Amino acid sequence: MSRITVLGTGYLGATHAACMAELGHEVLGVDVDPSKLARLEAGEVPFYEPGLEEVLQRNLASGRLRFSSSYEEAAKFADIHFLGVGTPQKKGEFAADMRYVDSVIESLAPLLTEPAVIFGKSTVPVGTAERLGARAREIAPAGDGVEVAWNPEFLREGFAVKDTLHPDRLVLGVDRDRPGRAEALAREVYAQLLDEGIPFVRTDLATAELVKASANAFLATKISFINAISEVCEASGADVTVLADAIGHDERIGRRFLNAGIGFGGGCLPKDIRAFMARAGELGADQALTFLREVDNINMRRRTRMVELAREACGSLLGARVAILGAAFKPDSDDVRDSPALNVAGQIQLQGATVNVYDPKAMANSKALFPTLTYSANALEACAGADVVLVLTEWAEFRKLLPADLEGVVRTKSLVDGRNCLRPEDWREAGWTYRGLGRP
Ligand code: UGA
Repeated sequence: MSRITVLGTGYLGATHAACMAELGHEVLGVDVDPSKLARLEAGEVPFYEPGLEEVLQRNLASGRLRFSSSYEEAAKFADIHFLGVGTPQKKGEFAADMRYVDSVIESLAPLLTEPAVIFGKSTVPVGTAERLGARAREIAPAGDGVEVAWNPEFLREGFAVKDTLHPDRLVLGVDRDRPGRAEALAREVYAQLLDEGIPFVRTDLATAELVKASANAFLATKISFINAISEVCEASGADVTVLADAIGHDERIGRRFLNAGIGFGGGCLPKDIRAFMARAGELGADQALTFLREVDNINMRRRTRMVELAREACGSLLGARVAILGAAFKPDSDDVRDSPALNVAGQIQLQGATVNVYDPKAMANSKALFPTLTYSANALEACAGADVVLVLTEWAEFRKLLPADLEGVVRTKSLVDGRNCLRPEDWREAGWTYRGLGRP
């Protein structure tokens, strides 16, 4: 078993730290935010992620997992360090903000007196790992004994534990000019996963960084593709959900990530495609990725379309009562970063409607981001007296809703399904006006 540190205990870092301890390693999670550390030390996950709290508590109890704010302790504790801090979008620019990643290297490297390997996990612009490696060797007392390798993370929120312990693949980018110990150490850390037969792709640093950027760009493109087709479906009276099933039967296409609706959001896809475009531009390859601008545009257009459908349903938004079911960027998450649902809620309120929002898990985060919206304690309360009900996140609780549940609750039996997650027949038979996106 190995001793490892995980630098950064946000979504990625906290999950990685807990899951590496679950594999039997001795893990030290390090963060500069004392409030985050306090919650993690108390066995509390600071965000909603099914199953993670159990893994955290079990490994805290076993003593294999600890947390600290000290980089001195981290440098002494292990010679394997995973870097998992955030790379948000820069304000007013498409590019990624590298300040947190850089500060990990600036804090850790000067303390490395013995050879060590830093495995980057964050999503970074191609070229970052090489730059960080050079910087670390320059400022570390151990000099050339310090290696930087890249081991991108592909976990999905809502499936973080499963995706970390049973990923589709492991990717490791190693410095071509100084291969060192990185691959051998990674194989030790992930031995249990490799025994399971999980594919291990070893490559150079740039390829590893690009694998991650390309994977997210592809997923974003797939969603915007079906949303673009859904616009044509709307214009022609076709049904995008049936169309997606039909093309999805083709194994080359596949049905997953072909759900048309109000589009993608979250802390990854939107900022990652923008950072990817910005980086390609810096490299003189901007033409290659101009299509991602269109992917972004199609995605943003879905939000505007949803507002239009709400307006059509009410006649005018001014003075209308709009119930919004779902605020998280996707179900089984309390994450509202760049959430299409909250964005739509905000736009509708700004156009003069009274907006009542309910989400099973994302209420606190939504209130912090959009304090001016009205929040309801449950779905029925949100729908009370509504002129239209908008389903914007496909939580199981909303998918199970039946017209009878809202009978006598709403003012007008009108529903717009922003995630195409309900059965139109059920609602229409009960006398409702049902609108989906890209459906007749
Ligand atoms: C995404 C990727 O799926 C992960 O592989 C990646 O590791 C992660 O970003 C990251 O870079 O950290 P995540 O942001 O958790 O994961 O969410 P997804 O499940 O990809 O969903 C993204 C958005 O697309 C959501 O708003 C979702 O509602 C939307 N979506 C997804 C659709 O609109 N239609 C679909 O068919 C699928």
